[in-house]
Amino acid sequence: MSNSIAIDGPAGAGKSTIAKLVAEKLGYIYVDTGAMYRAMALYLIRQHIDRNDTVAIEKACEEADISISFEDGQQVVTLFGENVNGLLRTEEVGNMASVSSTNPVVRSKLVSLQQKLACEKDVVMDGRDIGTVVLPDSKCKIYLTASSKVRAKRRYDELAAKGEPADISRIEADIIERDNRDMTREHSPLRRADDAILIDSSDMTIEEVRDAILLEAGRKL
Ligand code: DC
Repeated sequence: MSNSIAIDGPAGAGKSTIAKLVAEKLGYIYVDTGAMYRAMALYLIRQHIDRNDTVAIEKACEEADISISFEDGQQVVTLFGENVNGLLRTEEVGNMASVSSTNPVVRSKLVSLQQKLACEKDVVMDGRDIGTVVLPDSKCKIYLTASSKVRAKRRYDELAAKGEPADISRIEADIIERDNRDMTREHSPLRRADDAILIDSSDMTIEEVRDAILLEAGRKL
């Protein structure tokens, strides 16, 4: 049976950065489940589907051909055979994903895909429901969080490095709103699994967080 490390937590907690480092160190595959919700959202946008039209979302979800492969250890998401990795990180796609990921038909299709991947390979998988729904039997579960202030500051610094002006209090307000949506939705809300260890990265370096997870993996796997 394959091994897995399940990492959940709110947006901006550093899950993907850390998950990649942990996967690299252990020789596991890093699976970014948010990218799958984003690929579905991209398809809905391309089909001009209204985010509140549940019937249309579910119909489009059933026909959407999304698949995942790995090239040199990097996840490639394809939509009807097109590599869409470069199109997923926009605000428009993120906002649609945040709404369409609340739909149970969307979730069920993508959860099956995620479970199949974790069956085939040793994975570090990050998302919102990995320890609770996708891989409830994973022996190594992490709930990674940080204060909304720290997450807003990290995002602000990222934008500043790219020369993009930003308002830090606006960023923090958006983060709080998104946390609220992710944690209170009806289907698979973001929550810490009972057997997940909690890591608050607010005052930790990336290396400290990576090492804390590697220590936990060494104990549990
Ligand atoms: O982590 P991210 O920003 O790429 O995720 C995009 C959206 O998908 C986000 O609003 C939360 C949702 N998501 C989810 O509901 N379940 C997951 N396992 C991963 C992401």
